[in-house]
Amino acid sequence: MSNDDHTPVTTHDSQVPVHHEADPIADPGLPPHTWRPTDVDPKAEKRAERQIAAMFIAAMISAVLFVVAYFSFEVGDNWDTFAGMGASTVSLGVTLGLSLLLIGVGIIHLARKLMADAEMVEMRHPAASPQEDRDATIQALNDGLDEAGIGRRPLVRNTMLGAVGVLGLPVVVLLRDLAPGDALDTSKLAHTIWEPQMRLVRDVTGTPILASEIEVGDLVNAAPEAMFPTEENGYPELEGAEEQAEKAKGAIIIVRMDPDEIIPTKGREKWTVDGIICYSKICTHVGCPISLYERTTHHVLCPCHQSTFDLADSAKVIFGPAARPLPQLPLAVDEEGYLVAQSDFDEPIGASYWEREKQ
Ligand code: FES
Repeated sequence: MSNDDHTPVTTHDSQVPVHHEADPIADPGLPPHTWRPTDVDPKAEKRAERQIAAMFIAAMISAVLFVVAYFSFEVGDNWDTFAGMGASTVSLGVTLGLSLLLIGVGIIHLARKLMADAEMVEMRHPAASPQEDRDATIQALNDGLDEAGIGRRPLVRNTMLGAVGVLGLPVVVLLRDLAPGDALDTSKLAHTIWEPQMRLVRDVTGTPILASEIEVGDLVNAAPEAMFPTEENGYPELEGAEEQAEKAKGAIIIVRMDPDEIIPTKGREKWTVDGIICYSKICTHVGCPISLYERTTHHVLCPCHQSTFDLADSAKVIFGPAARPLPQLPLAVDEEGYLVAQSDFDEPIGASYWEREKQ
C-alpha cells in the first residue's frame, strides 16, 4: 500500500509478537513485510497501470471481434475448420473466452500490483457480529476501495468499466438467438407436414401402422411417413434444420380405448377409427414431448411440469400449467387397413406462450 507521496504505510507492526493468555502457544508474529516494487517505485506503479489498462483494452477489442465474428460466419460454415468445429464456433469461443480471460487477468493484476498490501491480524471472536462491527466492516470496505486507488486511477477505472461494459455487447447479440430467423412466425407452427392420406408410421422404424395391430390400452409413438422417404412412398428427402423441425412438429401419439369411453366432441365425431385416437405429442405448455400414459384413466402426463391431458375428452387439460388441449389429428384407414391422416392438424401444435389464433 502507498499513500500519495509513495511512502509505505501499514496498519500493523509486524515485528512485535502478540501473546494472549488464552493462546496455547505464543504468537510467533509475522515475518518482516516486503514491499512490492509498485509500493515504492512510482515508475513501476505507472507501468503496472499501463499493463492493466492494456489488458482491459484488449478485452474490449476481443468482445467487439466476437460481434464481428457472430455476423461474419454462418453456423455450420466450414465444418472442418478446426478439430471438426466450424469457423463460427471457433471464432465465437476464442473471442469471448479471450475477453473474459483478459478481464480476469487484468483484475488479478490490479489486485496483486496496485491494491493495498497491508498485513493485518485479528483475533477470533464470537460468530455473531454486533452492529458496530458490521458498520466497521462497511467502513473498511469503503476504505479498501479508496485504498485500491480506483478513484485516483482514472485510466484503470475507465478501461476496466469499458471492458466490462463492452462485454455486454455479446450478451445483447446472443439474445437474437432466442428467436432465430423467423421462429416467431406462427404460420410456420400452424402447419405441419401432415397431409391427407399420409400414413402414420412408428417413430423409430418408420413402419406403417395397421389399425388392427393396436390393442385397447396401447400408446404408440408415431411420426408422419414423410419423415421416412423411400422410392416407394415418393416423399422428398428433407435435410438439416428443416428435417428436424418437421420431425418435431409432426410427432404424435396414438392410443386405443373402448369407443364408448370417448367423449364426443362436436365436429370431431369422425376423427377416430374404432376407438383409435391421435394427438400431437408436443405439450401445449412449453413444448416437451409427452408420453406418460395411464391406460385406466386415459390421462397422459407431461414429465416437464406435470400438465395432464384427458385423451378420452379431446385431450383437455385437467391439471398443470398447459393452457389448451393437445391438438388432435383426424384419422382414417386406407384400403390396406393402415392408419392415415385425414388432414393436417386444424390448429397450431406446440407451446401456447404467444398468440395462437387458428390459421
Ligand atoms: S412442457 Fe409440458 S407441462 Fe410444461
